[in-house]
Amino acid sequence: MSRKVAVYRKEHFNAAHRLHNPDLSDSENQLIFGKCNSVNYHGHNYELIVKVVGEVNPKTGYVIDMKDLSSIIHTEIIERFDHKNLNLDTEEFKNLNPTAENIVYVIYTLIKAKLSPLLDLKIRLYETERNFVEYPA
Ligand code: NI
Repeated sequence: MSRKVAVYRKEHFNAAHRLHNPDLSDSENQLIFGKCNSVNYHGHNYELIVKVVGEVNPKTGYVIDMKDLSSIIHTEIIERFDHKNLNLDTEEFKNLNPTAENIVYVIYTLIKAKLSPLLDLKIRLYETERNFVEYPA
């Protein structure tokens, strides 16, 4: 008998970025990325929602111990990206444009690597209140 439950953890971090594709001309970059291409970077308050789906463990009554989930998010994501310039300060975005689409994928990959393979993971990332992305789609 299967009883899968979704559990969620919300976190946030602040980070600066600049959207830029070095393979494109300055005017193309400006056309595509607009203000987000501004040379001196800009910041966002990113809201992160981590969704984990799995069977409820009959011994603990948990899908995952939320202390463990929180600790994974802090170690893998918050310590890595909070108060950082994503383009300049992180390995992950040295050669990857830090769009919300790319950030959510990187976050998914980092957390997924630390979770039991029996658990399903979905990440939602808010760049602003109105703009957010989800992976997997
Ligand atoms: Ni931006």
